[in-house]
Amino acid sequence: MCIQHVSKSFQSKNGSVYVLEDINLEINQGEFVCLVGPSGCGKTTLMNIVAGLEKADSGEVWVNGRRILGAGPDRVVIFQEAALFPWLNVIKNVEFGLKLKGVSSSKRRTIALEYLKMVHLTKFQKSHIHELSGGMKQRVAIARALAMNPGMLLMDEPFSALDAQTRWILHYELQNIWMKTKKTILFVTHNIREAVCLADRIFILSTSPGKIKKEFSIDLPRPRDDNDVNVAEYSTRIMKELKAEIDKVVKCEMDADSCVECDIKCTTVEPVKTDIGGGI
Ligand SMILES: Nc1ncnc2c1ncn2[C@@H]1O[C@H](COP(=O)(O)OP(=O)(O)O)[C@@H](O)[C@H]1O
Ligand SMILES: [Mg+2]
Repeated sequence: MCIQHVSKSFQSKNGSVYVLEDINLEINQGEFVCLVGPSGCGKTTLMNIVAGLEKADSGEVWVNGRRILGAGPDRVVIFQEAALFPWLNVIKNVEFGLKLKGVSSSKRRTIALEYLKMVHLTKFQKSHIHELSGGMKQRVAIARALAMNPGMLLMDEPFSALDAQTRWILHYELQNIWMKTKKTILFVTHNIREAVCLADRIFILSTSPGKIKKEFSIDLPRPRDDNDVNVAEYSTRIMKELKAEIDKVVKCEMDADSCVECDIKCTTVEPVKTDIGGGI
């Protein structure tokens, strides 16, 4: 997958917001790449452009030698909220896309069961969505995505609404799934520790407009543990390198108007989380 010179701005009532500037990124087949950046830096916008749900003002996205001009079954998005169908039980949710594709009922049952087994939810196949925890819902969403056998999974902060314990379990599960399926994964997070735990490579985005600031390769054996000393050490190192950028964002967000010292146009006064395990 290749993102070439992608730029994007939005029109709002306060004028034009320049969100992404000249994003260039290449992801190899079977690679796990994390995009990390502060809230509002354009991560979801970039994800939507890759998914074909949003159009770039300029630049191109290519997947498997084909230019992306719209959504397609080769790229499935998993959002922060699992977006399951509450009127269908677990297995019917997993089968849903296959049914649309015209896969026979016995075949789609076999495929759905295979992926429910992979996310350890076989026992809950007949459960209703409202009976599941947040972590279980995300596992159903992952099974549903994998059942479509896409070339690429696009995951937009899929675990950020979950508690730390559930996140830890899902980091482990996702690594095992990735090792088994070797899908190409583009995973967005604002959590450096999460990115170190999961990624082959991490791209850090700066904000206003979002630009690729830095790239890190994570050379640690898998499965990795959030609490592993090497994961912590990598996270601290990356955080240190980003300190200047974070200080800039914090300073900007604490002041009410445009910062004279940086190129960030202040639009929000929400505080920025600065812990290594949390956001940047
Ligand atoms: N449809 C839209 N119309 C106007 N502004 C938008 C739209 N989508 C996103 N934005 C703005 O673009 C910026 C980046 O948003 P987003 O991509 O959601 O950031 P992130 O996912 O990194 O938090 C924000 O300032 C947001 O308000
Ligand atoms: Mg987002």
